[in-house]
Formats: sequence, structure tokens, C-alpha cells
Amino acid sequence: MKVAIIGGGPAGLYAAILLKKQRAQAEITVYERNRADDTFGFGVVFSDATLDNFEKYDPPSYRRITQEFAYWDDIAVHFRGTVHRVGGNGFCGCSRRTLLVILQERARELGVMLKFETDIDDESRFADADLIVLADGINSRFRDKHIEHFQPQVDLRSNKFAWMGSTRPLDAFTFIFQETEWGPFIAHAYQYEAGRSTWIFETDAETFARAGLEGLSEQQSADRMAEIFGWFLDGHPLLINRSMWRNFPMIRSQRWVKGNMVLLGDAKATAHFSIGSGTKLAMEDAIALADAMAQAPTVGAALQTYEHGRREEVEKTQHAADVSLVWFEHVDRFWDFDPVQFAFGVMTRAKAITYDNLTLRAPEFVREVDKAFAKQVRAKGFDIDIDKPQAPMFQPLKLREMEVANRAVVSPMCMYSAREGVPGDFHLVHYGSRAIGGAGLIFTEMTCVGRDARITPGCTGLWNDEQQAAWTRIVDFVHANSAAKICLQLGHAGRKGATKLMWEGMDRPLEQGGWDTISASPLPYFPDSQVPHEMDRAAMDRVKQEFVAAAVRGEACGFDMLELHCAHGYLLASFISPLTNERTDEYGGTLANRLRYPLEVFEAMRAAWPAHKPMSVRISATDWVAGGVTGDDAVAIARAFGEAGVDLVDVSTGQTVRDAQPIYGRMFQTPFSEQVRNEARLATMCVGNITTADQVNTILAAGRADLVALARPHLVDPSFTMRAAAWYGASEIACPPQYLPGKEQIFRNSVRDRQDFEDLKIKGKPKTRAELKAEATKPLAAE
Ligand SMILES: Cc1cc2nc3c(=O)[nH]c(=O)nc-3n(C[C@H](O)[C@H](O)[C@H](O)COP(=O)(O)OP(=O)(O)OC[C@H]3O[C@@H](n4cnc5c(N)ncnc54)[C@H](O)[C@@H]3O)c2cc1C
Ligand SMILES: Cc1cc2nc3c(=O)[nH]c(=O)nc-3n(C[C@H](O)[C@H](O)[C@H](O)COP(=O)(O)O)c2cc1C
Repeated sequence: MKVAIIGGGPAGLYAAILLKKQRAQAEITVYERNRADDTFGFGVVFSDATLDNFEKYDPPSYRRITQEFAYWDDIAVHFRGTVHRVGGNGFCGCSRRTLLVILQERARELGVMLKFETDIDDESRFADADLIVLADGINSRFRDKHIEHFQPQVDLRSNKFAWMGSTRPLDAFTFIFQETEWGPFIAHAYQYEAGRSTWIFETDAETFARAGLEGLSEQQSADRMAEIFGWFLDGHPLLINRSMWRNFPMIRSQRWVKGNMVLLGDAKATAHFSIGSGTKLAMEDAIALADAMAQAPTVGAALQTYEHGRREEVEKTQHAADVSLVWFEHVDRFWDFDPVQFAFGVMTRAKAITYDNLTLRAPEFVREVDKAFAKQVRAKGFDIDIDKPQAPMFQPLKLREMEVANRAVVSPMCMYSAREGVPGDFHLVHYGSRAIGGAGLIFTEMTCVGRDARITPGCTGLWNDEQQAAWTRIVDFVHANSAAKICLQLGHAGRKGATKLMWEGMDRPLEQGGWDTISASPLPYFPDSQVPHEMDRAAMDRVKQEFVAAAVRGEACGFDMLELHCAHGYLLASFISPLTNERTDEYGGTLANRLRYPLEVFEAMRAAWPAHKPMSVRISATDWVAGGVTGDDAVAIARAFGEAGVDLVDVSTGQTVRDAQPIYGRMFQTPFSEQVRNEARLATMCVGNITTADQVNTILAAGRADLVALARPHLVDPSFTMRAAAWYGASEIACPPQYLPGKEQIFRNSVRDRQDFEDLKIKGKPKTRAELKAEATKPLAAE
């Protein structure tokens, strides 16, 4: 077998090593345009877990790498004169040059041919090769040459960064957030060998321009950075090596394989430097390729296996990197945070590290986070313990005069089980059991303001006395038997009305017994859905009155709070999104115009709703479609409702149009809540794929939302909050006397369960740096 590898970076060299180990007879050649020791950059960083992988696949190179590594456990966050250190992170760094020299030596040892100073510009010279590996890096010539086939998407990010070095010793992965007269600068720094550290400087485009960095030479910009970070560099110089300022390209390729050619490493996909995974991804690509080659019968089949098997893992890492880079791009959102909360946000930005996880490895730090959170709650007038504070989830919140005992919320969920809009026994048990289950706040399902405002024939309503009496029974039960507050969500289905029950065909038009629908514009939801009537002024007035009348009835029922549903493509949302609003009057066109009618409705309801009770609005913060509502629009929408008197923005997303492309994942809508909360400076509730109390605490402690709603988890577990209270020892949680023995038992058992869990986690922890070091000095067994 003949293998040609273009590019002698970590991906190309490691692929050569692993393939040669597999097929000693194969003729494997690496072509590298640079000289052997002619490499840019300073250090690379790997986690302990990545090193475990290297150990498994090639012990000799693993041992040499680990002998050369600098190890550290701590992450240190410097912000506004404070330092917060968190241990137990298990990272190590090595010089990129040393890594490449080790891989080159190992490749040579195995019989791989290395051809340096050989710039390849045409793959046709490898016509006789069975496999051509394109590991030619971030600016891959071959990816671009076959651009139509590989279909790379390049997202050039807005921040500027430069990669430098220093002799400054560091004993932790160090983030420095530095205020300057021009704006914020960030340093990501770590030591990779004795007397050498990597320094990546990052700033936004405006700060970059204000600081006059445009057009400076590498040395001049190093001097400028040395001035800014001089207090920390402590007399050590900054070193340069192709350290020009750049914008990071996030690259994703639609295809990785063309015939017998395959993209590896940065050539196929990149991951932002802030999660330090570029070299890891490159080398793990090589592992995946070698695995596929070992198992599949032909090269073609192996390349398919590689692409299909590897893609998900790469996309997961890229997603984490995206979330992380967005955090750094928007660091100004958190600039006025308490430093410990800021540091918690840095630690948890990419979702992998959570509140519980940090509690295990840095309990003191989490205690500080809890205290800072409790202090903020106390400053709002609550008489709570700040020396031994509860976890954030169990801290109270006040909206106008309404106090909720904890931050867990049952998200609004249609049960499609009402008759003529009247909630029945199912609803009483449904809401009642979730209230008893401990959530601080319960939302009703979207309750419709008129018969024709319903989504389906099973939706609840609040337009007549019978419905009012039925809702009063539920509200009374909740108030009599729990500490939960209950919020009425009012809505109008608009063009998504007259559709089937969820389990008979979500959003599908009714075949019989439907009614006429209305919307901002006459656009059907599905091509075969009913074409809605475009609302005229008379319809707008009528519907506004229906909302007000339902709000008045809601007050009579005793609801504690009122929410206006302006999300998910229903009537009011259809005005807000440009995808569903094609009006040419003053209710269409600009965002201000599109918001006009929803705001009119909100203001009319606010005037009718008691001043001491809060109101929220649910919005779709993005349509997940180009040309639709974006996160920036969501901030403007929230601000407009804020000026109209909204107390809480309930930040959901999407469901506006059929061809949306949401990016799902854990807590996938939380970034929008974070943006609205910290840019519009309004209280927010986040929702969407939040399934654990650990996530709830992580979100709250990082200042990404004020309340956290869970929908589907509550469908199967009405006592989600009670269980969480037991786990975190929040014994104050209310419980009806009938259920007290159950509460006592779960609280008692939780102490032991938690201990068992912590023991297990500690046992399952990856090898420590001390263990790795000891191994690195062990004699090498025959390979
Ligand atoms: C600022 C910054 C900081 C980073 N920090 C880290 C970090 O801390 N940890 C980490 O793991 N990663 C980090 N990375 C990422 C890391 O450098 C890359 O992800 C990694 O090197 C990718 O390996 P690769 O083999 O795919 O590509 P490269 O390392 O770029 O190797 C590609 C090779 O191909 C050669 N080549 C290109 N074209 C040709 C051609 N036509 N003919 C012959 N040879 C060719 C190039 O000379 C190069 O040697 C960082 C990146 C940046 C930009
Ligand atoms: C069965 C069901 C019904 C729903 N009905 C409503 C509703 O009436 N009003 C609303 O705003 N959202 C509704 N939603 C959306 C949820 O409130 C929530 O935003 C969404 O399910 C994401 O949260 P989750 O991942 O915790 O389930 C519903 C969701 C489900 C699963």
C-alpha cells in the first residue's frame, strides 16, 4: 500500500505513525513544505483525557511527549484586581516544536519517509497512491482546490487575536481580563516548558482599532501588549514568531472525503483556541482514520467509516468551542459582574464544567460563588443566610410584590385536554402535583383568549365564566397546598390555529370542525394549512380586547402573575418576525413597526392587570433562519417590552416557520437568555433542554438567567424540585403535611446518595499529573 500525506503538522505525522504501525510494509510518505524544525507558534495544550488516548495508540511517542510536558492542575482567573484559582483541571502543555520533533523521530523510527521543503500543489503526482491524506492545515490548499466538493463554510470571527510567547513562568492556565483606556483585552496564557509560556492576546475589533494596533509591526504590538500586561509579566519579555493579529476562522466542511483523498485536522474543521483543542482534534482525527483503516475491507469503505464515525465528535467539540468563543467575544456583558461570579462564568462557559463538578474539585470556590449570589439576593431585601447560603436554585426572587421561594419553574405546556376551553380534573391533578412537587413558579399552558384563538380543540381558554371557575379551582388548590406561585400564560394561536391535538399531528390543520384563522399576513404555516386572514384594525381591536378581558378574568381567578405569549409563531409572534409579517402599514417593515401591535396588547393588559403583580413576555429570541429574528433583535424586543413595564423576559426560540434550523444541544437556548439579560439588563427566564438541577445552578450562578424553566422534565417528574432540594440540602422547601414522611426520607437518603456519588466521581477521576509524571519516568517496555 502507498500512502501520501500532505502536511507534516500533528495530524499528518500522527496519521503516518499509526498507519505505519498497522502496515509495516506500506510505503508512507509525509510531504512538508517547511524545514524539519521550522515551526511557528509556541505551546500546545492537552487534557489528561487526550493523553490517555495517546497512551493507548502509541506508547513510545506518548512517553516522550509526557516527559517533555509541563503540567498544571489549576485555572486562574485574574479580573479587576482579584485572582480566583480552581484546581483539578489536569492539563499539560508542550512546545509545538518539541511535539513535532518527537512525532518526526517516531515516524522515522517506524520507517515513514519524511520529505521536508516540499511544497505540494497538485495531487496528480500521487496517482499511484492508495490513500492521499490532506493534512495541510487551516488554509488547506487542497480543501480550497476542491471547494465545490468539500463545501467548507468559513466563519471569520469578529475578535482579533495574536499568538506570542514569554519567559514568564506560570503555575496555572491563566486568564487575565484587563481593562484599558481603549476597552477590554484578554490574555490566555500557560507554561509549556521550563522558562517558556504561550500568550494568546484577544480583543474586540473596536478596542483593537482604538488601541491603534492596526498596522503596527509584530514587535510594536508585542511592546503594546507588554505595556498593558506589564504588571503581570513582571519584567519578562514577550516573544514573537509570526505573531500577527488575525481573526479566527471557524471552519466546517460538508464533506471530508473525495475518492481516495481525505481531510484531516485543521484542514477539515477548526476549534477555537480558547478551548485548546486544535491539536487534540488533529491527532484524534489521525486515530479515527487509523481505526477505520484497520477495520474496513477497502480504503473507500475506511474513509466512509472515518467520516461517519468521527463527525459527531468533531461537531461536539466545535460546538463547545463556538460557545466558548462567543463568551469571549461578549465579555463586556459580564464586565460589571462580581469577580467571583465572573470567574464562575469563565469556568463554566463551554458547558463541560458545571456547578456540581466544581463543587467536587473546588468546594471553597463554589462556596464563594454561593455567597456572592446570596449577597445579591439579600441586597434585594430578603432576610437570608449569607454565611451558609443555599445553592442559587433555592434562593428566592421577587418580581414586583410576588416572591417565589426558588428559581425552578414549570414551563408552560399545553395538555390538549380541555373541553370547550374548560380545564378539567386532569389539569387539576397536573398543576396541583407539580405545585406540590416544589417548583417555585408554575406556568399554565397557553390559555387562549377566545374560541377562535385556540391552537387545537383541546386547548384551555379564559373567555367565559365556566372556564374562569375551573381555573379558580386550580389556582385555589395550588395556593392552599403548596408555596408555588402560578402564572397565567395568555395567547392567541394566529395562523397556527385550528390544528390537530399534539398526538394526532402537531400543527397539522384540522380536517373537520376547524375555524377561520388570522395572522399578521396571509401566509399559511404548511403549504396545505389554512390561509389566515390578514388582520385589519377592527380585528386588532377585537383581539386586544379579548386579551384584556382574559387578563381581568385571570385576576379574578387569583393568578399571581401574567404572561403574554409572543413566541413560537403564534399570533403576536407573527407580527414580530419579518418572516411572517409582510405588512406595508405601520405594523410591518421595521422592528419598531412589527412590535407595535404586540406592545399595544401588552400595554392594554398591563393597565388592566394589578400594579403589584408582575407580567412577563415569552419571545422567540431567534427564528433560526437567515433573515429572521436574531439575538440582537431579541435584545431590542426585550428593551421595548421593558419600557412598557415587563418584569421578566421568558426567552425561548424558533417555531416561527417550518424550514428553521435550530442548533439543539444541552441548554441550547440559554445563550439568548444570557444576551438579553446582560445587554438589555432585564430579568430573564431561560428554557430548553435543561434537564438537571446542576444545570439550573450553573446557569443561575453564572448570571445567565434569573429563573430556569423546565418543560419535558416536569412531565415525568412532578417532584423535580423536591428531589433537587434534597440533593442540595435545601430543607426549607415547602411540603404539604400529608407528604412529610416522604420528604424526611428523601432528605435523609440524599446525604448518603450524595456521598456515594462523590466517592464514585473521585475514584473515576483521570490520572493526576503526579501519576503521569511517575509513569513518564518508568523504563520503556518493548513495543
Ligand atoms: C493562536 C492559536 C493557538 C492555538 N493554541 C492551541 C493549543 O493551545 N492547543 C492546541 O491543541 N491547539 C492549538 N492551536 C491549534 C493548533 O495549532 C492546530 O489546530 C493544529 O496544529 C492542527 O494541526 P494540523 O496538523 O491539522 O495542521 P498544522 O499544524 O497547521 O499543520 C499543517 C502543515 O501542513 C503544511 N502544509 C500546508 N500546505 C502544504 C503544502 N501544500 N505542501 C506541503 N506542506 C503543506 C504546513 O506547513 C504545516 O506544517 C492553536 C492555534 C492558534 C491559531
Ligand atoms: C407538550 C408540550 C406543550 C407545550 N406547550 C407550550 C405552551 O402552551 N406554551 C409555551 O409557551 N410553550 C409550550 N411548550 C414549550 C415549553 O414551554 C418549552 O419551552 C420547551 O418544551 C423547551 O423546554 P424543555 O426542553 O424543558 O422541554 C410546550 C412544550 C411541550 C413539550
